[in-house]
Amino acid sequence: MERRTNSPYPKIDRVVIAIVGLALVVGTLLFMWSDRAHDWRFYQYEFRQMVSDQFGEDKAAGVPSGPQQIWVADLGRADRCITCHLGVSWKGFERAEHPYRTHPVEPLATHPIETFGCTSCHGGQGWAIDTWAAHGEVAHWEEPLLSRSLGESYTLATDKNALMQMQCNQCHRYDRETKGATAINLAKQLVTEKGCRACHVINGYGGTIGPDLSEEAEKAPEQYDFSRLSGHKTSFAWHVAHFKEPRAQAPDTVMPNFNFTTEQAQSLAMLVLSWRRQHVPAAYLAGAPRTDPRTPEELKSEEEMRKGPGAWFVQTGCFVCHSISALGVKSPAQIGPDLSVAVEDVQKRFGVTIDDFLRNPTGTMSVVLSRQIVLTPEQRAVAVEKLREAFTAYQRQREADTQPAASHKEGAL
Ligand code: HEC
Ligand code: HEC
Ligand code: HEC
Ligand code: HEC
Ligand code: HEC
Repeated sequence: MERRTNSPYPKIDRVVIAIVGLALVVGTLLFMWSDRAHDWRFYQYEFRQMVSDQFGEDKAAGVPSGPQQIWVADLGRADRCITCHLGVSWKGFERAEHPYRTHPVEPLATHPIETFGCTSCHGGQGWAIDTWAAHGEVAHWEEPLLSRSLGESYTLATDKNALMQMQCNQCHRYDRETKGATAINLAKQLVTEKGCRACHVINGYGGTIGPDLSEEAEKAPEQYDFSRLSGHKTSFAWHVAHFKEPRAQAPDTVMPNFNFTTEQAQSLAMLVLSWRRQHVPAAYLAGAPRTDPRTPEELKSEEEMRKGPGAWFVQTGCFVCHSISALGVKSPAQIGPDLSVAVEDVQKRFGVTIDDFLRNPTGTMSVVLSRQIVLTPEQRAVAVEKLREAFTAYQRQREADTQPAASHKEGAL
């Protein structure tokens, strides 16, 4: 028979097993209790009551219970928002409070929730089933719910709910105009009117004086220089401040101050922060040409200017920023002065000849001529000649303009 020797260690195994057992029981109870405490249970209970009061017991029995989700494989989204927002697809709760309220009908008519989920428009954290987590108010979650409350804390000038439009523009980026995205539409119009493409590549084409903005939203907050920004240090606030006065954030910049209003600056900030690397499948891109092409009218007028007396300025790219009205060239952006009088104006403003100015330019032109349009000495000579031609044409037109006025006066006498 086997003989046992007494263990040299203290006999505590029973105690240990007892403690572990107790801990497991307590853990299980705590887990059950915390699971009971999820507020979605309460919202589901309440909603079932509301349905019962309004439509009767039968309907109420059909209200789903337990976590609910919409899984959209194409978008890689599993949105559990409807665990609490149960009333989304019901009629009759238009006036109920959140999260029970019926969803506005229009957005969902063109974007059914089965194929779009919720977070593709609203942001937030789809997987979560607790309010604050689902609404994205948690550390390390970079897609907060783009809600009215966030709009209020960003002090949006007009529509407090406008931040959501940044999400709309992930898919509607190539639309010139999207119904329901007023702020984004305003910003797109400004980008065209102010000629931002003179200096920036946007959606595949434009100049190289400023950074390529096509994926501006991928820039991490750490990459901004917040040292000159007062107030909230967010990417959004930085862009608003930069649009209002570029030099206040980037002292050496040649980006002009366009005197934007707060509404315009905020809309532009939303637009540039909607420009992400594309991660939705092509089928989700509304009316999807991959770049937003110039309209036929824009192309036609450019084509005409290309054939006229100011052709050189169009071919060389000066017309992107300058009109040369004496030669019939109209710049879409008009960022720089009309070059018809440059020969005289440069002499007056800088005290140098046009030749010297182009050789040693200052301000914006020093960036343009070193980065975007590099002229060889021969091309520079042509530029000077063309600018003189423009000035001659300008003087001739002015004489022609003043003479009929003079003869008109004589006739009146
Ligand atoms: C645990 C329950 C719960 C979940 C899950 C949940 N919500 Fe909510 N939601 C609420 C409650 C409660 C309110 C109203 C009170 C509030 O605004 O916090 C609300 C309000 C909202 C509002 C209005 C907010 C405002 O500021 O006007 C929006 C929009 C919204 N939710 C969207 C979502 C989206 C999108 C999801 C999924 C990512 C989601 N919710 C998930 C409970 C929830
Ligand atoms: C196509 C985009 C789109 C989708 C998809 C979408 N919504 Fe909305 N949602 C909107 C728009 C637009 C509004 C109206 C905002 C307004 O009134 O300014 C809205 C309003 C709301 C509101 C009320 C917000 C408020 O400020 O009063 C809630 C809550 C909400 N949606 C939840 C959801 C939930 C939950 C889902 C998923 C089941 C969902 N939405 C899917 C676009 C969408
Ligand atoms: C995930 C991509 C996606 C998001 C996000 C999205 N849309 Fe759309 N939207 C589409 C697609 C795709 C269509 C085209 C649907 C069709 O033709 O059946 C469309 C259609 C539309 C239409 C109808 C266009 C027409 O010509 O009939 C409008 C208006 C619209 N969206 C506005 C919005 C607004 C406003 C938002 C934000 C609240 C938004 N969309 C968010 C993809 C998206
Ligand atoms: C004359 C050239 C010029 C024009 C016109 C111009 N920009 Fe800029 N922009 C720059 C330069 C240079 C920078 C880089 C220095 C700085 O941050 O200002 C810049 C920076 C920016 C940035 C910050 C990019 C970053 O991540 O640092 C944004 C956004 C921007 N521009 C948007 C616009 C928009 C929108 C317009 C039209 C309304 C516009 N710009 C017109 C030259 C220009
Ligand atoms: C990206 C925009 C841009 C482009 C492209 C551009 N310019 Fe300019 N240019 C400007 C701006 C802005 C000014 C005004 C700068 C200032 O006052 O410091 C200017 C000023 C000038 C001046 C001085 C005008 C005066 O009346 O003081 C001349 C001359 C000039 N540019 C010539 C050219 C020529 C020639 C080309 C083509 C080879 C060209 N520019 C292309 C933006 C541009």
